[in-house]
Amino acid sequence: MTIKPRKIAVVGTGLVGSSCAFALVNQCVCEEILMIDINEERAKGEAWDLTHGVEFMSQRTKIKNGSYAECKDVDVIIITAGAPPKQGQTRLDTLGVSAKICESIVKPIMDSGFNGIFIIASNPVDIITYHVWKLSGLPKNQVIGTGTTIDTSRLKNFLSQYLDEVDVRSIHAYSMGEHGDSQMVPWSNVSIAGKAFLTMRKENEELAKINLDEIVEKTAKAGWEIYARKGTTYYGIASCTVGIIKSIFHDEKKILPVSALLNGEYGEENVYAGVPTIIGKNGVEKVIEIDMTLEELHKFKESINILRDYMSKIGY
Ligand code: LAC
Repeated sequence: MTIKPRKIAVVGTGLVGSSCAFALVNQCVCEEILMIDINEERAKGEAWDLTHGVEFMSQRTKIKNGSYAECKDVDVIIITAGAPPKQGQTRLDTLGVSAKICESIVKPIMDSGFNGIFIIASNPVDIITYHVWKLSGLPKNQVIGTGTTIDTSRLKNFLSQYLDEVDVRSIHAYSMGEHGDSQMVPWSNVSIAGKAFLTMRKENEELAKINLDEIVEKTAKAGWEIYARKGTTYYGIASCTVGIIKSIFHDEKKILPVSALLNGEYGEENVYAGVPTIIGKNGVEKVIEIDMTLEELHKFKESINILRDYMSKIGY
């Protein structure tokens, strides 16, 4: 009999990658973590630092630095490597550099014989995830972007402030489309305890006063508010990444708005975008087509069109 230890590789051990690794170790998600970075010494330093905390965790995790050649039997690879946006740039502006970095990563990983699941956090995440899917040749369910998981979480945090601080996990809402400025919220689908948020607005003066477009804007810009204060974001996105992995390892079948390949859903195909999906042991097990008004569907398609424009810039 053999029991297979669960292994995760983190590619790019900057602030996002190392925060992912820290969250994995803290939440006891796997038995082994491989830290990979173009700067090997940095990866080594992170692996040592994380290892020195393991005594105080509730499970042992072995963490080491390594190379792409060691990825054959890895279950999940998190890609965080990329070009962070400079002041005044959008996530989309970093596409060229991030796409190149991706190319240098995916080929050697696939050459190792890897057949697990990729989780991509590098921006612009929807396009980079599509690129990884194409470069890897893996089935679509095995290539997942963090998508609008972080935006959805931010949206629920904003909504909670208007809803007696109800737990964000009790709010049903999604931000969808591009993980970026064009994302949209299908408000007709937002509910709390099964009650439609739009109905609640009709019955409650305070809720009626909320400007929904402003909330969408605030959600889309939340990352920039953090950038302006600390230069980058990492804890939020690391938590989302680890949440996705937990749903895979425990076959939770949680519904998460990751970036997934659309194959006819919402009348779109051959594009990755943030949509609610069932995440289980096979990765993306199903894309859910939620009900939307025609106006909402139009906004979603506008966001998809922006993604397609940028995809064409790297030859798709
Ligand atoms: C953010 C990064 C992940 O929005 O784009 O925090």
